[in-house]
Amino acid sequence: MLLTVKDLFVSFGGVIASDLQDFSLADKELKVIIGPNGAGKSTFMDMLCGKTKPLRGSINFNGNELVGKKEVEIADLGIARKFQKPSIFPSITVFDNLLLAVKMPKGFMRSIMFKMTGEMYDKIVAVADRIGLKDELDKIAGALSHGQKQWLEIGIVILQDPKMMLIDEPAAGMSDKETEKTGQLLLDLSKEHSVLVIEHDMNFVKQIAKGTVAVFVRGKLLTEDTFEGVRNDQRVIDSYLGRSNAQLEI
Ligand SMILES: Nc1ncnc2c1ncn2[C@@H]1O[C@H](COP(=O)(O)OP(=O)(O)OP(=O)(O)O)[C@@H](O)[C@H]1O
Ligand SMILES: [Mg+2]
Repeated sequence: MLLTVKDLFVSFGGVIASDLQDFSLADKELKVIIGPNGAGKSTFMDMLCGKTKPLRGSINFNGNELVGKKEVEIADLGIARKFQKPSIFPSITVFDNLLLAVKMPKGFMRSIMFKMTGEMYDKIVAVADRIGLKDELDKIAGALSHGQKQWLEIGIVILQDPKMMLIDEPAAGMSDKETEKTGQLLLDLSKEHSVLVIEHDMNFVKQIAKGTVAVFVRGKLLTEDTFEGVRNDQRVIDSYLGRSNAQLEI
């Protein structure tokens, strides 16, 4: 397993946000996490990338214990995150947002600057093409549509070339067509990376859940099953009752 999580616990002012006994992700596996609002899905990703420190538990990633490591150290081990709230730089261009994400090789020297710049440029254009923003490279990022901003963020994750991508609600606020394109992109990315995706849109979940769907409720893993399995699981249906913006209907 690339990722193995055991007994991961954190609470905020008495509210248990994570009480996860077991969770794992294999190399080049795409796994979807669903669950009602406040179930601890984003908090889980916060702990995986070092933004939130768990009170106890362990996160083994590719042979390394992540608990206790700083965010930059975790990023260097090959984990990149797309946050739920867009975190691009709105006042610079799409190209510059992507340029900032390119991993500079260690010991980067001025003398090889030109060659590197050419390589970087090609890489950025290739990623922009992949995320459908090749014609928007000179546009100020803040002027992109909501869906395009989400894609730009995914592009920033791709350019970091991580072993594991953490993608929090990529389809939120997207049209059906944009959602479909995003799903295709994530499926494509899972051929080269492990991908963990949090999402509420069940049509989108159905599209990308070729493997298993993990259901989080009150910080715990309620169940993990195929898409059809979780959709027909009465415990899963009950966990969503009374929630308006997190429907299991498709
Ligand atoms: N930094 C924090 N400080 C205090 N409370 C927090 C913090 N982060 C999360 N929480 C709380 O932890 C619980 C889990 O929140 P989290 O954002 O992980 O849920 P979620 O499953 O991602 O929900 P949503 O589907 O609405 O995004 C919530 O009660 C939330 O208010
Ligand atoms: Mg969340």
